[in-house]
Amino acid sequence: MNSSELKHLFREYFGYDDGVRVFFSPGRVNLIGEHTDYNGGYVFPAALTYGTWAAAAPRDDSTYNFASANFPTRVSVSSSEKLTCKKEDDWANYPKGVLSELLALSEKDAPMYTGADILFYGNIPNGAGLSSSASLELVTGLAFSSLAGLEIPMIELVKLGQRAENNFIGVNCGIMDQFAVGMGKENHAMMLKCDTLDFQYVPVNIEGYKLVITNTNKRRGLADSKYNERRSECEAGLKIIQQHLPHVRSLGDVSYEEWMGVSRFIENETIRRRVKHVIAENERVLAAAKHLKENDLLAFGKMMKQSHESLRDLYEVTGFELDTLYEAASKVKGCIGTRMTGAGFGGCNVSLVKEEEVENFKREVFEKYVEKTSLHPVFYVCEIGDGAKELI
Ligand code: GLA
Repeated sequence: MNSSELKHLFREYFGYDDGVRVFFSPGRVNLIGEHTDYNGGYVFPAALTYGTWAAAAPRDDSTYNFASANFPTRVSVSSSEKLTCKKEDDWANYPKGVLSELLALSEKDAPMYTGADILFYGNIPNGAGLSSSASLELVTGLAFSSLAGLEIPMIELVKLGQRAENNFIGVNCGIMDQFAVGMGKENHAMMLKCDTLDFQYVPVNIEGYKLVITNTNKRRGLADSKYNERRSECEAGLKIIQQHLPHVRSLGDVSYEEWMGVSRFIENETIRRRVKHVIAENERVLAAAKHLKENDLLAFGKMMKQSHESLRDLYEVTGFELDTLYEAASKVKGCIGTRMTGAGFGGCNVSLVKEEEVENFKREVFEKYVEKTSLHPVFYVCEIGDGAKELI
């Protein structure tokens, strides 16, 4: 979808196209570092070229009209009403949540939000763990703040998107998704420490290889999944560790060596496994980023596989479909790294595959996956794109 096609579509929905501006925000894939973000650890995501487009024009009557080319539900709200999450508003709860947070951000700026017509179009598969919701949040934040004439720094829009998800939608996610879709950079991944938000861009030079995302097509309901349960298990583990290592603020602060010294204090076997995953995964992100910088793709791929196995055996968030993809992908010639990506419980796998073996990879994985699950996987050979921006 390009800007003029979207403007054309906007005209069909709203009857005019004067003054329309077009914005884009990507989806993301996390290369390694899973379930570490809400533990103050490291993650290593990259923005995709798949994403969400928004065509928007200002109004002067405080009304916000939301429409989507993907879903039939249309919603109108006024910036003067109390905005709440409503089941019948479906997808529009995300932009409503962002609007609500924008209005709360600064009393002084609130009057600048005078209303807008906005049409969204997205090509990220929904609920597949590629951050379609963070993408929708960031494109809305950027569009509404830009129409209001405010230049809110991207990092503030990132935090605001997470608040919308936590406070308005009620999903207790970490910062990774919003950060990746807001701050992404073409051909780079971001190594981010999630408590301090210190980060660096790392070039993804994978010449001769492709990143292939495979969607299990098993829907992953993040809100009603075990996600929040994992968070509380980590919090319980942290409390015990802090009694022995008082300098520790989050599990992301604990080195594997320190862990070896304190693991025995966690008596609950489940909690011990959860915490072990987080601490080891954190070290894997650092090692993986180093391997990528040194162009050692085989070593990078090995980290990806270890990550999956830890998420399967210790954190227990993979499940039959993701494990089936992992097994199938691991066996394909030329696939040097493979793992689940995102929250787990369904969603997507990401694999590093030799370019000339990509077609064979798709064929073999497809056959084995269909045979075992009766679901059809969908493949995306992905490129790493930029973060949220206005399209001129
Ligand atoms: C989801 C959440 C992220 C992160 C991942 C797991 O994508 O939105 O904040 O916790 O799961 O790494």
